[in-house]
Amino acid sequence: MEKRTIPISLPSMGNEEWEAAKEPIFSGWVTQGPKVAEFERLFALRHKVKHAVAVSNCTTALHLALLALDIGPGDEVLVPAFTWVSTANAVLYCGARPIFVDIDRRSFNINPKEIEKKISSRTKAIIPVHLFGLCANMDEINRIVPHLKMIEDGACAAGAGIKDRPAGSFGNIGCFSFHPRKSITTGEGGMLTTDEPELAERMTKLRNHGASVSEEQRHKGARPYILPEFNILGYNYRMTDIQGAIGIVQLKKMDNFIHERQKWAEYYTNELSSIPWLETPVIPVGYKHGWQSYVLNVDEGKSPLKRNEIMDVLHKHGISTRPGTHAVHMLGYYANKFQIKPEEYPGAFAANEYSMAIPLHNKMVKEDFEYIVKTLKRVDERSA
Ligand SMILES: Cc1ncc(COP(=O)(O)O)c(C=O)c1O
Repeated sequence: MEKRTIPISLPSMGNEEWEAAKEPIFSGWVTQGPKVAEFERLFALRHKVKHAVAVSNCTTALHLALLALDIGPGDEVLVPAFTWVSTANAVLYCGARPIFVDIDRRSFNINPKEIEKKISSRTKAIIPVHLFGLCANMDEINRIVPHLKMIEDGACAAGAGIKDRPAGSFGNIGCFSFHPRKSITTGEGGMLTTDEPELAERMTKLRNHGASVSEEQRHKGARPYILPEFNILGYNYRMTDIQGAIGIVQLKKMDNFIHERQKWAEYYTNELSSIPWLETPVIPVGYKHGWQSYVLNVDEGKSPLKRNEIMDVLHKHGISTRPGTHAVHMLGYYANKFQIKPEEYPGAFAANEYSMAIPLHNKMVKEDFEYIVKTLKRVDERSA
């Protein structure tokens, strides 16, 4: 078998994005302006929400979502223990405390059964994460904590959903990422979604220094001597119009990207479920996976090699892999600050140790998928 080189992820961009980016560059309107507004309008439409507010990335989206919901010192926010670090970091940025909840090992998402034990009189909000593009069990979470404010961390879940409800339309606020490892990208970028007009208005001000009117309104407005009012402490978390223009093109391609990924995810699952030491992803009935990543669990009790050794073999054969993500309670900063032991969250600990993402992106061809499957099936022979 001839060696191939397959990165874990590659953005799918081409001439259309290039042409779209030229327009703001040549017009001179490169900061947040009409392209961002159009991207927001289309994103809201696709995700069945009334408002979308574009920002610089999903971490700033999470920060603004928490601020808009008045989360601050003394408050506790429930977050899954296995997620990208910024879900928890954003809570700390507000002076509140993230309280970790263990995950379900098979879905990699927050385990609804673990939520109740973590609720205290200080709990104000919950951030379910739709990890790798699979929505968390939103019905069950809503049933357990209907009284909490809810922010969906849909960083990986643009275009995903449950039945006819898209990610970002379940909670008070949804947050999305357009980092290049996501299914659609604007280089860096993020989006907030909400049905609540007051929240949309607050987040719109917060992303722009707290200003009462946007740059565009100010520059194109009739009374140039009027400066905006600044009645709240804001930030510069704006998206540029160059990114907005690219986002419009990417969003139009999103459903095709996901459709293609779905097809190859099914191929992986069909081929890999015969390997006794690999657990393939499980998708509950009615869920539409966004397939940001295809993540397996390695059962080291049955596998010929340890997870990391398998990753080494794949690397040697040109196949890039990653652990799914990390257990945040095991990261030095959190482990030291809150004195948490790895075994306090066994689901997150196991996912940290045994999860393995294999390449899945829209630049891959049939031969890439076949090569990965063949290499995995013969991983023990190939380690020699
Ligand atoms: C679950 C989750 N939340 C938040 C983020 C942060 O997104 P960004 O890189 O756009 O800030 C990521 C990024 O990987 C993520 O996977």
